[in-house]
Formats: sequence, structure tokens, C-alpha cells
Amino acid sequence: MSSQAGEKWKGYAVRDIKNWDKFEVIEFHPKQQEDYDIDIKIEFCGVCGSDVHTITGGWGEPLLPLIPGHEIVGHVVRVGPKVTSFKVGDRAGVGAQVCSCFKCAPCKSDSEQYCLNGVSTYNAKYPNGDVAQGGYSTAIRAHERFVFPLPKELPLEEIAPMLCAGLTVYSPLVRNGTGPGKRVGVVGIGGLGHYALQFARALGAEQVVAFSHSSNKKDDALELGATDFVITGGDDFAEPWKGKLDLIICTADVSHGIPLTDLITTLGVHGHFIMVAIPDESLPSLHSAQLLSNGALIGGSHIGSKKEAIAMLELAAKKKVKSYIELLPMKDAGNAVRRVKDNSVRYRHVLKYVPLSSSSPPTDAWCA
Ligand SMILES: NC(=O)c1ccc[n+]([C@@H]2O[C@H](COP(=O)([O-])OP(=O)(O)OC[C@H]3O[C@@H](n4cnc5c(N)ncnc54)[C@H](OP(=O)(O)O)[C@@H]3O)[C@@H](O)[C@H]2O)c1
Ligand SMILES: [Zn+2]
Ligand SMILES: [Zn+2]
Repeated sequence: MSSQAGEKWKGYAVRDIKNWDKFEVIEFHPKQQEDYDIDIKIEFCGVCGSDVHTITGGWGEPLLPLIPGHEIVGHVVRVGPKVTSFKVGDRAGVGAQVCSCFKCAPCKSDSEQYCLNGVSTYNAKYPNGDVAQGGYSTAIRAHERFVFPLPKELPLEEIAPMLCAGLTVYSPLVRNGTGPGKRVGVVGIGGLGHYALQFARALGAEQVVAFSHSSNKKDDALELGATDFVITGGDDFAEPWKGKLDLIICTADVSHGIPLTDLITTLGVHGHFIMVAIPDESLPSLHSAQLLSNGALIGGSHIGSKKEAIAMLELAAKKKVKSYIELLPMKDAGNAVRRVKDNSVRYRHVLKYVPLSSSSPPTDAWCA
């Protein structure tokens, strides 16, 4: 049997990539209930750049109708019989992954985000064919391994965007050695970038350089912990930074707009350029000679593990990492995704679940 017979939840879905900003309330079947599953009633969901790539078809034709959203927080309303780490009523969150194989080397070594059989939070299918739908909705069901406990010091709405945007930069910062004495560059100060600046400082980096394509975000970047602000326009922006950085995390959501070769010159010997952004188009081409002068290494990074999510949230609470958010009711999802596409959000939209209308509580209730 596929989804639990009779179980129907609701969410805001896109039906057609040409109408990617037109959301419609649909009913959907959650995945089949299994022993380790946890159901969370959603209170807030962040709006990630990846939601926009998916609903616009930038990464290919999605599974439609599609409910996006993978920065999900709320309270646990049901736990499967084998769940041990959560109980009904707990605060809990889900990021961009809801399942994996649990058996492969990445799964067994706290790198489950690299499982070749992982299931993304939306635009994905479970092995039995159940469709995974995201957090612009009433509830989410996920395996315990992909449900994060949330620190009580941080407000739910501020935690939501950390579960994808925060984690996606925290993981490569840590895996590439950010700490005291290190010099880190962050390219693109958006949802991901505004956390990258803060987490780089929170991890103890000595210098954190914000690279942005205009001067608009200078004051914010400095407030977020950047020690320096560099506008990436112009031919010689990289000149004063040659050889100065150990690591660059690139979150800029454009392909040809990324001055890749110039940025690489800012790395010291064997410095790392880590791409976390996934623009629709390929990266600019690069001649291998451009990697030789400093022996630079180019890599990528995909979200983060549960272990890293827990460590990130602990650090965020301890070092008072702030989420700069703009709250909107979930019904305004269309407006939120348009503003992400326009690059005008400072720095993350978070959708708040509110009942669809006060006159329809019975049909709006996600589970009676
Ligand atoms: N690897 C992963 O696992 C993972 C996880 C989540 C998201 N992502 C990807 O990461 C990227 C960023 O996501 P996000 O949510 O942070 O998006 P976002 O809030 O829209 O931020 C992207 C930033 O890119 C820069 N940018 C946008 N348009 C530009 C242009 N025309 N020229 C130069 N720079 C431009 C802007 O920074 P400035 O204004 O400062 O230049 C903007 O703030 C997306 O591609 C998303 O799909 C990847
Ligand atoms: Zn995301
Ligand atoms: Zn696996």
C-alpha cells in the first residue's frame, strides 16, 4: 500500500512552471506511516532560493503539483512506535532531506546528505512511490533521523531558515577548517550568505570578507560580522586580495555573474573555493592554468548532516547568530518567491502557517 488510506493534508502548491508564483491550496497524501516516522504540525517555513529554482523549472521539470519548502519548524503531533528521541508536543524541525538508505558509507559516517538514495523534502519520491511534499503546508512526516531537536533559546521563526540556509553554509565552513586564524570569503549576501558571515565569525575566523555585486548590503554585511566588504563589479576588485584567503564559500545565485577566475586568485596556497549555490546555468569556463598559480581547489557542498544541524543550532544559540527575516502569512507564498527571484529579500522570507479562514476550521485542520 502506498500512502495511509484516508490521510489527507493540505498545502500551497504550484501546478505549472509557467505559473510558478501562483499557489493553490491542494490536498495531498503524506507518505505511508512507518515505525520511525514523526509528524510535525508546521508553524513556520522559510523560503529558499532552491524553492524558486525548482518551481520555475530552472533545474528541470519538477513533479507537479509541487508544494515547496524545506526550512520547516513546528511541534510534534505524532510519533511512530520506534521513535525514541521525540515525543508529542516537542519543538522540532526538518531541513532539505527526509530520508536516506541508512546503510551506505555516507549514511554511516554522519554524511547522510551525500547518500545516493536520499529523499529530498519535496520534488522527490520515496522508494515505494510516495511523493514527498514540502513545508508550505500544514504538516510534514519524516524519519526520526531527519528531524532536528530545536534549542529553546531561539525563536521558532528564526530557526526555520537555519535548517537549510544556515546548515548549507555551516557544513562547508566546518569541513574546510574555519576557525581561529582563518580568513574566509563569502560570495553573495542573501539567505545563505547572511548566515555564512555570522557562522564564520562564530567559528572564530579571523577575517571574514563579504563579496557582493553591489554596494547595497555593505552596512548589513558589516553588522553581520564581515570584517571587509568588497564589490565584485569591475576588473580589478580582486587585486588587493590576491593570495589572502583560505576559503571561499560561494552562495551567489548566478552563473556567468560569478567572477570565478578573479575570486580564485584571492586564495592562498591550496585555498578552497566551495560552491554551494546551484544556479540554473553552468559555471563560467576556466583554464586549468588559472588553478596552478596558487594550487587552488574547487569543490561543492550539499546541505548538512543531522549531527552538523545540532552543532550549528547549539553554536547559533551560544553566539547569538541572528536570522534576518521577513515574516509573511503562508498564503502570500507567491509574493515571497517573486521577491527571492528579484533579489530583494533581506535576508529570508519565513512563511507563517495561519488557518486558511476562520470559518473553515474543520476542513483546514490537518488531522482531526
Ligand atoms: N548546496 C546546497 O545544498 C544548497 C542549499 C540551499 C540553497 N542552495 C543554493 O544556494 C543559492 C543561494 O540560495 P539563497 O537562498 O541564499 O538565495 P538568495 O537569498 O537569493 O541569495 C543569492 C545571492 O546571490 C547574489 N546574486 C543574486 N543575483 C545576482 C546577480 N545578478 N549577480 C550577482 N550576484 C547575484 C545576491 O548576493 P549579493 O547581492 O550580495 O551579490 C543574492 O543575495 C541558490 O542557488 C540555492 O539553490 C544550495
Ligand atoms: Zn534550501
Ligand atoms: Zn545511504
